Amino acid sequence: MVKILFVCLGNICRSPTAEGVFRHKAREAGIKDGFIGEIFIDSAGTAGFHMAAPPDKRAQLTTLKFGIDIGDLQARKISLQDFADFDYILAMDEDNLNILLNNCPKEHQHKLHLFMSFAKNCPGITEVPDPFYGKIDDFDKAYDFIDRAAQGFLEYIMEKHNLPTS
Ligand code: 4NP
Repeated sequence: MVKILFVCLGNICRSPTAEGVFRHKAREAGIKDGFIGEIFIDSAGTAGFHMAAPPDKRAQLTTLKFGIDIGDLQARKISLQDFADFDYILAMDEDNLNILLNNCPKEHQHKLHLFMSFAKNCPGITEVPDPFYGKIDDFDKAYDFIDRAAQGFLEYIMEKHNLPTS
């Protein structure tokens, strides 16, 4: 099983969106997710400001426009155990990648990546910008970046791990 963790600051805007979008794409590709699937997907924040809260309403509305319901997700803070448990830990921006690098044991640091590094046709874009203090347009823009990175990452792991599809 390939275990994937999406990480932002608060775990209420970008990383739950990435979790929902990636799960949707993986299911559409015929890859089984969950405890007995080929992949396991989760998200977390580097901060614990919103522990157990559902995703921001604006993030929920944005994903719903694409038929993706993330309303049942609950925010949590990344733990030391996550660095051992997950195979890919994908940061939404450089600040959060740096927080992860500062907290991740050396033997697991190869698991840390910028999520946007997997996006195709996004030259020079390294980060999913934080929409929290922005307007609904900023959630649309973040969604677009997340969609591109999720597509690129799905293609990457399907090939690298030879994931079975149905
Ligand atoms: P996220 O956005 O990291 O994409 O979930 C934020 C959510 C909350 C805060 C900042 C960013 N906050 O400061 O509470």
